Amino acid sequence: MSSLDQALRAALLARQPLLAELHSQGTDCYRLFHGSQEGASGLTIDRYGPQLLVQSFHTALERDALLAAHALINAELNLDLLLVYNDRSGTNSRIDRSDAVYKAEPQALVDMIGHEWGLNYRVRGRHAGQDPLLFLDLRNARGWVKANSAGKRVLNLFAYTCGVGLSAAAGGAREVCNLDFAEGNLAVGKENSALNPTLAPMQFIQSDYFPAIRQLAGLPITQRRGQKLPSYPRLEQGQYDLVLLDPPAWAKSAFGTVDLLRDYQSLLKPAILTTAEEGVLICCNNLAKVAMEDWREQVLRCADKLGRPVREWQVLPPAADFPSSDGRPPLKTLILQF
Ligand SMILES: C[S@@+](CC[C@H](N)C(=O)[O-])C[C@H]1O[C@@H](n2cnc3c(N)ncnc32)[C@H](O)[C@@H]1O
Repeated sequence: MSSLDQALRAALLARQPLLAELHSQGTDCYRLFHGSQEGASGLTIDRYGPQLLVQSFHTALERDALLAAHALINAELNLDLLLVYNDRSGTNSRIDRSDAVYKAEPQALVDMIGHEWGLNYRVRGRHAGQDPLLFLDLRNARGWVKANSAGKRVLNLFAYTCGVGLSAAAGGAREVCNLDFAEGNLAVGKENSALNPTLAPMQFIQSDYFPAIRQLAGLPITQRRGQKLPSYPRLEQGQYDLVLLDPPAWAKSAFGTVDLLRDYQSLLKPAILTTAEEGVLICCNNLAKVAMEDWREQVLRCADKLGRPVREWQVLPPAADFPSSDGRPPLKTLILQF
């Protein structure tokens, strides 16, 4: 038995209780193998509904090992999952679209539907972007939002494919607004909305974060050293009862830089100001090298300085399909009650 085979068997065995729980909750999208913690660094294996998505980030898998992993998972789960292999071991974790190791069958690459917390999500093994359309480590946060959105005005910042917004709509939110600058990501969000036709419609704002959140917070939008700013949609100042802030680790635009290591504050400050009195802000930091304790101190200090002290906070770790032996998962989530 190869070492990958052994590690995968152990991972599947450890997940048995979690998978039973997820299936009973209407979830069929989850991580089956989290290589960095389970014995094959740089390898992830995820189920997205009918599809099995294998991704390698350090070295390409050998074809035989890939096919053996696929067969083992199908046998253990008693399913016939369609295999997609994205080798991302090249520069900047970009997918090698030449498919030198394995070319997916055409039926594995059609648009499919996956489920989470009873909701339908668009699943697509290959698309113009690099990442899968649903980030699985945020599942618990989406569950929390679904359970705590009734009657609330919800703002989903860096919305990507709008999973958090969809969860809020399913939880009975009064209003849901998804904000992201990428048209393609919001287009998938609109597909996700259409895949759940019984939910109330959501709002989609295509805008850079900085001008949008500063307008919502009632802060001025400053030009940088005489540089003319690109145009941006005009928004009314407003507050929301539940705000989710889940930015990428680093991104630069004409309006500012998203930098979770050096400057979380400039993202957080306007998001706090946009959270209503007695509202909730869920904020995330997915940078592995940032320690929860340091980041939490920064976050709480920022709120204090703004005269909006946090009444209660709670850490929301990812579920057991993202194990971390040291209790320090890369994705850190804080729920702040004002
Ligand atoms: C890590 S994803 C966020 C994940 C998302 N919260 C979810 O629930 O899946 C990062 C998102 O931020 C968006 N983004 C990056 N920089 C941005 C900016 N300056 N303004 C608005 N959106 C931005 C990207 O388009 C992408 O959709």
